Amino acid sequence: MKVNNIPTRTIRPAADTRAVDIIDQTALPHAYRTLRLASLEDAAHAIRSMQVRGAPLIGVTAAYGLALALMKKDDEATLTSAVATLAATRPTAVNLHWALQRMQARLASLATGARATAAWQEAAAITEEDAEQCRRIGEHGLALLRPLAEKRGRLDLMTHCNAGWLATVDYGTALSPIYAAFDAGIDVRVWVSETRPRNQGLLTAWELKQHGVPHTLIADNAAGLLLARGEVDAVIVGADRIAANGDVANKVGTYLKALAAREANVPFYVAAPRSTIDFACPSGDAIPIEERHGDEVRVVHGVDGSGAAGQVRQLPAEEAVANPAFDVTPARFVSALITERGTCPASDAGLRNLYPEAGHA
Ligand code: MRU
Repeated sequence: MKVNNIPTRTIRPAADTRAVDIIDQTALPHAYRTLRLASLEDAAHAIRSMQVRGAPLIGVTAAYGLALALMKKDDEATLTSAVATLAATRPTAVNLHWALQRMQARLASLATGARATAAWQEAAAITEEDAEQCRRIGEHGLALLRPLAEKRGRLDLMTHCNAGWLATVDYGTALSPIYAAFDAGIDVRVWVSETRPRNQGLLTAWELKQHGVPHTLIADNAAGLLLARGEVDAVIVGADRIAANGDVANKVGTYLKALAAREANVPFYVAAPRSTIDFACPSGDAIPIEERHGDEVRVVHGVDGSGAAGQVRQLPAEEAVANPAFDVTPARFVSALITERGTCPASDAGLRNLYPEAGHA
């Protein structure tokens, strides 16, 4: 996708050296800056601190993190300890573990000295696949959305968090069909949910603006009203982990939107690539939910009147705060899953039908 009209990706191998450049998402939407990751520690920190975020991008960054570790020391012990370091960064997005497992499978049998180059190549392959899968999600999602648009002559969608290209390598998951609809000339508008406490909705608004897609930011609490009033044709979100039975873990607040959508008879779609589906996880009950620091709720970040970045404490440090970062939407509230292979019911049978090769847990 484009930033200031220049095609770009969220993660790119540096031209001159074995390192990767990322967009520092903690600076957005107020400032656009890139950062260079040159070591395992840089990659782990970027994931932990959410300089990179979004399930697919976390996985890709972890793959490069392994490559960076092996460039420093190419032996089995380094591989094992780097996998452990990266696996501990964030618990909910299964793409992280998927990428680490894939890297390990590729590298395990290689001789010492041969792993670093292979790791770099495998990380690049994962990167390309993610971009292509997200592009396909856009095509399949568009096929689902087009009839809704034809019925009304326009398309009003609602999304939550940021499941756009910033959360992937390119295109995004939930936003990919939106970009595809916009590019196909459909009059599409997007209700963007703010997504407290980290406000990933601001990232969504930023990237939609870069592409020229009309959108309106709403406080999370406004979603129910808009759905009940008939101002939304469909809700479309991403996922951090889809269990084998179709239950979906995504950014906290997703579940409330699914409930409101069901009550309002509005379709609720979840878009995600294969790397987000955890066939070894029987149901949403088994998905680990990340609990993040309470200061994310107590302290608000932004810029002041002169544009300088700063923060405002809205609650004293001793005030008790709970900050679960994700929630689980039961499969029965999901109208369809949109993947790179097509759409399917959010169910064991639906997923098996799309991915017959996936082993039974
Ligand atoms: O905590 P984050 O910002 O990493 O959470 C991101 C989300 O929950 C996204 O909706 C999800 O990863 C889908 S990304 C294509």
